[in-house]
Amino acid sequence: MNRVETLFWKNDRLFVLDQTRLPVEMVYVTCESYRDAAEVIRTMKVRGAPAIGAVAAFGLVLGALETGGDRETFLSGLELIAGELLGTRPTAVNLRWALERILSKAADTPGDAADLRRVLLAEAVAILREDVEANRRIGAYGNELVPDPARILTHCNAGALATAGYGTALGVVRAAREAGKRVKVFADETRPFMQGARLTTWELMCEGVEVVLLADSVAGYLMAQKDVDLVVVGADRVAANGDVANKIGTYGLAVLARAHGIPFYVAAPLSTIDPRTASGREIPIEERDPGELTHFCGRPIAPEGVSVWNPAFDVTPNALITALITDAGVLKPPFEESLRRVLGGGQEV
Ligand code: MRU
Repeated sequence: MNRVETLFWKNDRLFVLDQTRLPVEMVYVTCESYRDAAEVIRTMKVRGAPAIGAVAAFGLVLGALETGGDRETFLSGLELIAGELLGTRPTAVNLRWALERILSKAADTPGDAADLRRVLLAEAVAILREDVEANRRIGAYGNELVPDPARILTHCNAGALATAGYGTALGVVRAAREAGKRVKVFADETRPFMQGARLTTWELMCEGVEVVLLADSVAGYLMAQKDVDLVVVGADRVAANGDVANKIGTYGLAVLARAHGIPFYVAAPLSTIDPRTASGREIPIEERDPGELTHFCGRPIAPEGVSVWNPAFDVTPNALITALITDAGVLKPPFEESLRRVLGGGQEV
């Protein structure tokens, strides 16, 4: 099967694969306005940090098509729309990164609204293309860390579905396979939204990758059996000191990996690094609907009225991370320094 397209642009419309309906059916949602784009992010029809960023970029292009007036009116209209898109999900920094990139392109481009619309669309298309290129580089660097054969544990979905294509953590898996290595993936189910069960297994099975679905609570036992060579996950935001926000449960995996002497890698593009956030303590953590825990497939699985805490992400302290696999190379601790070097344009190998 051809690799799945997470999103694409056609005839002034954005088409987004509805991930809430996977793995049962493949249905694309059409976004005709920036509000549609905001809605697909908010409702997690699209999810995964780079994919959210790309949808936000095209959302702003849709907003540009809906906005007129002279240059000043047009630019201030865009700022308001960007603010609405930014409010959809708080943790993944790629959202802010993509919106700021489009806004600054608009500010730096001379011309009227019609000129700017053309340039903004080209910029959104570039974001999409560059994300795939970044993921391929992440894959190539990450492959160097993968033994043959390899048993790889991952959490959530950091694959083609979470990006513009190829994936970050699953990009490492893909690159290792392309290099001819024998790879077996263990996919945590990833309660409560089930990205691992619904998406990672589906994405890998479509390409014939050997994958085993695990309840989240199995990871420690699996590691104790010495059945895991490495853990690789994605990231929603990497702070300046290398602390990583990623899907809830990632921190527990990192602690387990350390206890069992297993390397713990985080794969992320530079667009996920946030130099403006000093440490993980400052990363805003999204809390989602209690219904994700009290109900399963629409049926109650907890007593009515029970108190619920449902953070969607956690923070893994930099000390538990063996290396950050980025599109500018494999970063080793101390991350504060290696991150500063790559953000300054350097390359780490
Ligand atoms: O809530 P989600 O599904 O958007 O969370 C996704 C993750 O936590 C991913 O691991 C992360 O965004 C990296 S995707 C390349």
